[in-house]
Parts: sequence; C-alpha cells; structure tokens
Amino acid sequence: MLIKTIHGWDIPESRVTPEHVFFNRRQFIAAAGAGAATLALGSMRARAATDPSAHLYPAALNPGFADAGRKVTPEDINTTYNNFYEFGTSKRISRAAEALKIRPWDIRIDGEVEKPFTISFDDLLKKVTLEERIYRHRCVEAWSMVVPWSGFPVRKLVELANPLSSAKYVRFETFNDPEMAPGQKPSLFGFGSSLPWPYVEGITMAEARNDLSFLVTGAYGKPVPKSMGAPIRLHLPWKYGFKSIKSIVKISFTSERPKGFWEQILPNEYGFWANVNPEVDHPRWSQAEERMLSTGEKIPTVLYNGYGEAVADLYKGLEGELLFK
Ligand code: MTE
Repeated sequence: MLIKTIHGWDIPESRVTPEHVFFNRRQFIAAAGAGAATLALGSMRARAATDPSAHLYPAALNPGFADAGRKVTPEDINTTYNNFYEFGTSKRISRAAEALKIRPWDIRIDGEVEKPFTISFDDLLKKVTLEERIYRHRCVEAWSMVVPWSGFPVRKLVELANPLSSAKYVRFETFNDPEMAPGQKPSLFGFGSSLPWPYVEGITMAEARNDLSFLVTGAYGKPVPKSMGAPIRLHLPWKYGFKSIKSIVKISFTSERPKGFWEQILPNEYGFWANVNPEVDHPRWSQAEERMLSTGEKIPTVLYNGYGEAVADLYKGLEGELLFK
C-alpha cells in the first residue's frame, strides 16, 4: 500500500536491516549529522534565551517525579532525534522545525464546555504553576528516552475549560500550515494531501484528569524546543509516544471518541488507547523490548511503561477494548 511507504515510524530500521548493520549505519549517520545537530542545538539555545516565557524556567522539580528509574537522556539526543511529520518523515527534522512560528500562539478551547474561548499561550501560562517532572517516553517504534519535562497537569486545563457533563473525551489538534510546515503540503504525485492533517489525538476525561497526564511547555529547564513540539504539547508516559501530540492549537471536549491521526491512516495498526504492553506485539514487530536512545542498549519493556500503579484502574471494566493498540 502506498501509505506504508509514506512514513517510517511503523517500520523501525532495526526490523528491515540486520542489527549490526543498523547500528553501524546509525553511528555513521550520528557522526555525519553531528555538525547539523550542533548547529540546531545552538539555535535552540539562542531561542531559549529570547523566548518570552524563558524566565519561568527552570520550574521546581515535583519530588513525586524526580526519578524515572533510568538516566535522563542527554539533551542533544532528545532534541535532534524526533518524530514531527509536519516537518518531514526523517528523525532529523530539528533544523526544519526551526521554521515553526511560536508567537503569537493562540489555543482554542471549545466543544462541550460552558463557554468556548481562545487564550494566548502566554496568558495560559499566567493561569498555571509550572513544575518539572522526569518521565519515560516509549515510542511505538520500540525506542525510548527519558526527559525532564516542565509543564502542568492536563487536569488544570480541564478545570479552566469548565466542561459539561456531556463531555466524555478531550480532543487535541496541532496547527495546519503547509507554508510553514512542508510535511503538510499536498503530495506532488498524489491527489491532494496524502495525510489527514492536522495531527489529532484524543483521551478520555478520566485519562485527562489522571495526575500523570501532562501538558508540556518546557524541557531541560528551558522552553520546550521546537523539534519537541513547542510551545505546548501533551505527554502521556504510559502510552506509546504517538498519543503525545505536539504544538497544540485546539483542545475540544467531545461526546464522541476522536480518531487519532495514525488511527485514521492505519486503523489495523494504531488505535485509540495505545497503552504500552510488552506482551501485545505491533502487527509488524515485537514490543517486548525497547532500545534506549542514549546507549543503544536493549531493555525489557514494562506494562504501562512502568506507570501501572497510577493508571491501571482507568481501564477496569474496559477489558473488551483494544487497550494496547
Ligand atoms: N505530534 C505531531 N503534531 N506530529 C507528529 O508527527 N509524532 C508523535 C508524537 N507527537 C508527532 C506528534 C510520535 S510518533 C512520537 S514518538 C512523539 O511525538 C515524539 O516526540 P519527540 O520527538 O519529542 O520524541
């Protein structure tokens, strides 16, 4: 199918290439890309100094999330190895993502709420208290990293939105601007845009109110880099990374279950829940292990990415659902 050739994260390189070749190639790419990565990191640091929210960082570390049980991944790895399809299908989009314009940045809150409203990102920051949390991040492609995020719980946003009792889900939407983000341009050879932009994701109200659900505005003690989803993204550490939508412009409260970007494209492979489970394989690869980005080390994946104590109760009574896809 054409769609399978359009994006790469459903086919890890490690699956299509013998492992020793894969890692050698990665080392080569890492060496070749080191110059570009240094440049990108330089411009990210320059931005961090001039960002209007820079004074809010570093945020106080929440002691409940001070230790993810694994070492924090070095910043230059996390900020230059990304999935951000709006800027390209490779992992090396950090330079392209510098085109992302993050001011002015408005966020629309609508749907099943008492009164829909639009708020600027900087005004939203005045209504919340930022904190730092160190979270594990497990991609469905079977790689992982550990990130010191800053932000605030999604629960706080839910309070500000005043949802009605008819609201059952929260739907998040990314910007749609093909002039700025070349990945959103209609494909040259297809008929119209080949991917269903904008990127959309959704969670239940119960998931949104769970303490782990986090709206990220910073990373590594600074405003979050563009490559990682500036100025505001979601992070749900017990789910596969594709649920953690970047660069959010709209948050809607809905009575119907939203269909995520990847669920729309490949419904046989990606679903609504996407909770991490080493025993439920992706249709095309195993989820039993993950590769730590910093060391290349393979480690066993754990149920709910290790956050079961905080989230397993959310799924009681839902055993008939495809909770791990
Ligand atoms: N959000 C948007 N808007 N576009 C994307 O391509 N990729 C997702 C998720 N959020 C993506 C997105 C995937 S597949 C992953 S694994 C994470 O972002 C990657 O986040 P990172 O680049 O900060 O590691």
